[in-house]
Amino acid sequence: MTATSTSASKGPGSAEVTGFYEEDTGSIQYVVSDPATKKAALIDVVMGFDPKAAQTDTAQADRILSHVRDRGLTVEWVLDTHPHADHLMASDYLRGKTGAPNAIGAKVAEIAELWRDLYHMPDAFDPERDFDRLFADGDTFHIGELPVRVMLSPGHTLGSITYVVGDDAAFVHDTFMQPDAGTSRADFPGGSAATLYDSLQEILTLPDDTRLFVGHDYGTEDRPEPAWEATVAEQRTENKHIGGGTSREDYVERREARDRTLPLPDRMLHVLQMNLRAGRLPETEADGNRYLKIPLNRFAQEVPE
Ligand SMILES: [Fe+2]
Repeated sequence: MTATSTSASKGPGSAEVTGFYEEDTGSIQYVVSDPATKKAALIDVVMGFDPKAAQTDTAQADRILSHVRDRGLTVEWVLDTHPHADHLMASDYLRGKTGAPNAIGAKVAEIAELWRDLYHMPDAFDPERDFDRLFADGDTFHIGELPVRVMLSPGHTLGSITYVVGDDAAFVHDTFMQPDAGTSRADFPGGSAATLYDSLQEILTLPDDTRLFVGHDYGTEDRPEPAWEATVAEQRTENKHIGGGTSREDYVERREARDRTLPLPDRMLHVLQMNLRAGRLPETEADGNRYLKIPLNRFAQEVPE
């Protein structure tokens, strides 16, 4: 499935947003642009990775670059909301292709600390080297004339951020999922269901008509097609996990119970060692090839059938 859809700008101060679905990992990648200046940012773009063959490919990133070219957009930023566990990031590749700076949340440094130990790769990660900008909570920047505000939204990871663009769009990635799907998991290293609840509540303080763009969708039994946009008002009333005012305690209990049933993403151990370097592949070794390092017997899970 190669679904793409555009959420139109509603006028000055409102971004145009095109989402591109990536079916292997159920990820949604975004081009957000300022119609007045044709300046754009790319958010959470995927580098293809087949875990069986350990093969990378640039099909998704190239699909998005051709959209940018067709629309006559100029890329000003290559953004990610967090170091992803389910897919390889195209950040470094896109920075090279566009010349635009790449960025992520500043707490990526703390996430790198966790994984430096898990991989026993003491010198592997240096976010200051691999990202041009590391955003702290409350930081601001622009896409064309549209102001962007960074909100720290931890829980899924300890350093996830939300980009609030213009008056009525926010890229929340792995916090909310679509109202009929609920919320994102919070059980990866550094995750916390209680912290995620607080981040969800903070996102709900945005204006009611803010368009929230989520990072993942897998469809549901009743809705086979992927979807990725819902307003704050819709999430507040209809979200399957917290709509209508679920308490923090109830949410944490349900989230943790559900997370115990979820297998780890099949790419997690492959991709995080690259994603913490903006998706930059490992250096070639003496034979001219690149290699990954995978920790053994560290992530045992009992996942019921
Ligand atoms: Fe994620």
